[in-house]
Amino acid sequence: MSDSGAIPKVSRKVLSRRSNRGAIFPGDAREMGAAAKYELKDPATSRAAELNIMSGTLGPDVLDISHLARDLGVFTYDPGFMATASTESKITYIDGDAGLLLYRGYPVEQLAESSSYVEVANLLINGSLPTKAQLDAFRNSITRHTMVSEPLLRFFQGFHHDAHPMAMVSAVVASMAAFYHDTTDINDPRHREIFAHRIIAKLPTIAAAAYKHTLGQPFIYPRNDLRYCANILNMFFAVPCEAYSIDPVAVEALDLLFILHADHEQNASTSTVRLAGSTGVNPYAAISAGISALWGPAHGGANEAVLDMLDGIGSAANIGQFLARVKDKSDNVRLMGFGHRVYKNVDPRAKIIRNMCYRVLENLGKGNSPLFELALKLEEVALKDDYFVSRRLYPNVDFYSGIIYSALGIPRSMFTVMFAIARTAGWVAHWQEMVSDPHMRIGRPRQLYTGPTKRDYQAIEKREGGLMQSSPGL
Ligand code: CMC
Repeated sequence: MSDSGAIPKVSRKVLSRRSNRGAIFPGDAREMGAAAKYELKDPATSRAAELNIMSGTLGPDVLDISHLARDLGVFTYDPGFMATASTESKITYIDGDAGLLLYRGYPVEQLAESSSYVEVANLLINGSLPTKAQLDAFRNSITRHTMVSEPLLRFFQGFHHDAHPMAMVSAVVASMAAFYHDTTDINDPRHREIFAHRIIAKLPTIAAAAYKHTLGQPFIYPRNDLRYCANILNMFFAVPCEAYSIDPVAVEALDLLFILHADHEQNASTSTVRLAGSTGVNPYAAISAGISALWGPAHGGANEAVLDMLDGIGSAANIGQFLARVKDKSDNVRLMGFGHRVYKNVDPRAKIIRNMCYRVLENLGKGNSPLFELALKLEEVALKDDYFVSRRLYPNVDFYSGIIYSALGIPRSMFTVMFAIARTAGWVAHWQEMVSDPHMRIGRPRQLYTGPTKRDYQAIEKREGGLMQSSPGL
């Protein structure tokens, strides 16, 4: 707002533009859009600020407002980051209207069809598909970092048996910096690389330890003869007293789910990793912050909430009644697994997972899953309902993922942990991109202050209401 209280009008004034679209490896967007500008004028004073337009390789242009406060003395206001790009990134692109998701330029459908989670992790972190030798070296390093320090494993004995696994995993990851000092110098590229391999390798081991702790079963050590997802299933489900045979269908399903969850550009948990990491904190602390942010039901906790919701609905006969509650704004009920800040069309990941549900359930001999039938019916009814159609709400990645995790025998409380294992590749890629950028600055948003203006401290007996208002505990 200007001094007069009037809202400054934006007048569009594009002076000239240079386009880099179509280039696969463009330069830095900070330099690319330097010739194109908008002008923002304060009508009260006629002072104007020129805002550079920055063009990426795909997606809408963004306005560089970093000099706005200096030029006009105002900040911008955008709760929930509805219209704000918090960073420049070369990792993942989403076109929410077209239902398009690209990792380093590759459509997620192609990666889901032909790649593996470990290859996708390498792609996200390093920027291009690895050669066979590079992939073998990466896989070998990940495999050989899967064990965790024994004293760190003993942390689990301090947790109550019914602690939520997300609480245990985030706490244990935060404590990793106490064990792996040789990977906490964020300015050393080799430290960053070893950290990346360690966290991707060890998170499944920590997740499995959390799960075994809730069961009261002995911890199962990682096996280096197994691939990434097969090793996870073995650590989760094997017991020392009998042989456990790993189902290749389950391995394939897990690998595919992990590919689909591996990254999703500047979502809440990734932004949390970036914000925490921007302080220069050790990377384990930044990842732990991301794990905590992922836990919420509006984000990665939705997969657990979807199955609770389906249980609550019970049968197709109750769908109408349930959707009436969702549409009633006085009732705090949401259709979990539906809607997305970016996708205003079908989430491409949801499409792949729904198709996978048929195959996985059939192959695991669980073809008649009542929960899957109910989810399909719920989706069908919601997609014909004007409430969801008019708001462009479609199933997101979490609508069907829990059904597959359940079919694999993974309990609900572990669903978000599985999401965290997969998303670690994306978090690491974003953290690496940020800390290796010479332009990195601490993330520090501003605010619109609406609290009291300056006032003087009053002795307690002089306050309105006198002593009666003080806390009974004091
Ligand atoms: N059920 C009912 N109404 C909804 C839903 C939903 N799932 N999602 C959005 N809406 C309505 C919302 O009430 C609002 O209506 P109105 O305009 O009348 O006030 C409108 O749609 C826009 O919603 P919003 O909350 O402003 O949208 P957002 O971009 O802030 O929130 C979201 C996105 C994902 C948090 C939200 O859609 C949601 O809560 N979905 C359910 C939770 C969920 O499935 N989360 C997983 C997201 S995908 C995995 C991940 O990446 O984390």
